[in-house]
Amino acid sequence: MPTSTHFDVLILGAGAAGLMCAFEAGRRGRTVAVLDHAERAGKKILISGGGRCNFTNLNTRPENFLSENPHFAKSALSRFTPEDMIALVEKHNIRYHEKTLGQLFCDRSAQEIVALLERECNEAGVRILTGTTIESVTKSEAQHFAVATSRGLFTSDSLVVATGGLSIPKMGATGLGYEIARQFGLNIIPTRPGLVPFTLSTDDLQNWADLSGLSAEVIAADSTKKPRATFREKMLITHRGLSGPAILQISSYWNPGDPIQLDLAPNQQVFSHLLAPTARRDTTAATNALRSILPARMAERWVALNSPERWTNSALESLEATLHAWPLRPAGTEGYAKAEVTAGGVDTCELDAKTMQSRKLPGLYFIGEVVDVTGWLGGYNFQWAWASAVSAAQSA
Ligand code: FDA
Repeated sequence: MPTSTHFDVLILGAGAAGLMCAFEAGRRGRTVAVLDHAERAGKKILISGGGRCNFTNLNTRPENFLSENPHFAKSALSRFTPEDMIALVEKHNIRYHEKTLGQLFCDRSAQEIVALLERECNEAGVRILTGTTIESVTKSEAQHFAVATSRGLFTSDSLVVATGGLSIPKMGATGLGYEIARQFGLNIIPTRPGLVPFTLSTDDLQNWADLSGLSAEVIAADSTKKPRATFREKMLITHRGLSGPAILQISSYWNPGDPIQLDLAPNQQVFSHLLAPTARRDTTAATNALRSILPARMAERWVALNSPERWTNSALESLEATLHAWPLRPAGTEGYAKAEVTAGGVDTCELDAKTMQSRKLPGLYFIGEVVDVTGWLGGYNFQWAWASAVSAAQSA
């Protein structure tokens, strides 16, 4: 490797967004190199979707993303749609299926998505340089970006930052993208773990942790914002708190200290028949009613903790109401170590929505998770990675 090498486009990060951007820019005739400190490309893709990569969602809409600017993602999402991703997947003969709620997974392995990206990069003449430590990034007087690395100095006309977020540091996540943004004067929306399990207080854990492993379909709602975010999916009790899709989804909307609300029996009246004059009214009757909806031990525990002193009509009505709007105050989250994504990131006000280019510093681009656009669980985050990458590639 010569001591200084020039490319039209340098991309930092060989993840989903970086690889997609690389071959799209390469196809346009640009010379492209991708630098990554990991020993191989696309590591997070390999572990995604339980090893099967939920690579897109058929129902992708701008409403499925959180951002300080909810409109920002629209342009990119319309330039590269789930159908475009499906066409690419089919071009590579990758078999896939819809699991639920529009979520598309590989039939065989997430490795096929990484192979797709690497093959496309290869055909577009992209150099992927893994095992490369990035030491510094500067912008020279000659309008070139200069990236000093363990493999020597690289210069480029355009620099695309695709280094992802802080989630799963064990997989090589770092804050490099945010540092580069700050270095060039771009604002960062404070980051927080998203799609992450909740931890519970010691008191709540005493009540629930021994039921770890039980799950139920619930509606999880964020009770503090308007309009309220609500997700009807599974919730899972863990030995540290709560997880499962409904909880991961609502965690992205949660602010420390806030309560969440759980409807434990969506669209069902559970205790109404106990209001009949001849009906038995006690803990056993209430538990039996709830057992038809929740796992038996969860039903017993919930009724034991919420039983009224006297089983009056109004007490029963209030029990029903609590079942559908059960307030819980998470103690915290399991943090970046367990978060699927990082919410917050490079402020979208700093970027052009069509190209992902910095408004302050032409030639500098941010794509994928490093940007303050965070998808719901279910293939939306990859769709954002692909779409933002393609937008940048058309300009870089
Ligand atoms: P990504 O993290 O993929 O890539 C960033 C790259 O930058 C990495 O290769 C990293 O090594 C490199 N890098 C970081 N710091 C660096 C530094 N200092 N120097 C050099 N290189 C550096 N989403 C989805 O839509 N469907 C799914 O099924 C799943 N499943 C899933 C499972 C798990 C366990 C996790 C943790 C996450 C998911 N996700 C997901 C989220 C999805 O993986 C994520 O949104 C995308 O990978 C983001 O793509 P990026 O390319 O932006 O970052």
